[in-house]
Parts: sequence; C-alpha cells; structure tokens
Amino acid sequence: MKKVLVINGPNLNLLGQREKEIYGAETLEDIARKMNAEAMKLNIDLSFIQTNHEGEIIDKIHESKGKIDTIIINPGAYTHYSIAIRDAIKAVEIPAIEVHLSNIHAREEFRSKSVIAPVCVGQISGFGSIGYILALNAAACL
Ligand code: DQA
Repeated sequence: MKKVLVINGPNLNLLGQREKEIYGAETLEDIARKMNAEAMKLNIDLSFIQTNHEGEIIDKIHESKGKIDTIIINPGAYTHYSIAIRDAIKAVEIPAIEVHLSNIHAREEFRSKSVIAPVCVGQISGFGSIGYILALNAAACL
C-alpha cells in the first residue's frame, strides 16, 4: 500500500473562516474527509499534519524518509520564501506535490514565486479543495 503524507502549513487550520472568497468555505477537516474517501478508492494509506511552525514541517519531512512514498504539501506562505523547507524536500528525496487552493499566479506578485515548486514533481494551484484530490490521484500514479 502506497503511503502518502499531507502537510498543511501556516494558517490553513483557519480554512472555512479565513478569506472565504479566496480559500472557500470548507474546513481542513472537510478536505481531510474527502481525501480519506478518495484514498480508500486509490488504496492509499494517508496521514495528515497541519502546523503553523516551519521547523515542525522540516522535522516531519525528515522523519518521512524511508517511511513515506509521496508528500503532498501546501506550505502556505512558506511557499514563497522557505529555502529550509525546500532543502528538506530535496534532502529526503521523497517525491513531493505542491498544492494551493488559490491560483498563486493570479494574485499579488509576491505569491507567484514558489521556492518549493522546483524541488517538487509538480504544482497544482487554483482548483480549491479539488487540488488535494488531484494531487492524491497524481501520487497514486508516481
Ligand atoms: C496558499 C497560498 C499562499 O500564498 C498563502 O500564503 C496561503 C494559502 C493557498 O493554498 O492558496 O496561506 O498556499
């Protein structure tokens, strides 16, 4: 069974309350529920973490080495400047898929740059919560 870890970064615990016109009305629990249902269909063993702390994301990526087949990550605002998260993904050599609810290329200019994307297999951005489902399907094919 393929093992996939979903990492959600800062402020994503506030989904459903935060800037709903951009991020939608679903909570992170709603998204996790949908992903669990899809994971069952795809025969994927899914685990989740949400943290507002960069170091915790890095520790979790390190711990995944040898245990996790694919990482799905929405690094939140860290997307745009965390070289440390980028280096961690590169270091563990686990295929990673970057997900964003919003289309980061259609917003403020500072959001269009991802320092994480170059070390990922690919990026899914702008499809709302469906992006996580798409990422899971991509993970099943890796
Ligand atoms: C986000 C986009 C980021 O720019 C922002 O800082 C977030 C959410 C998204 O899912 O669209 O926190 O990663």
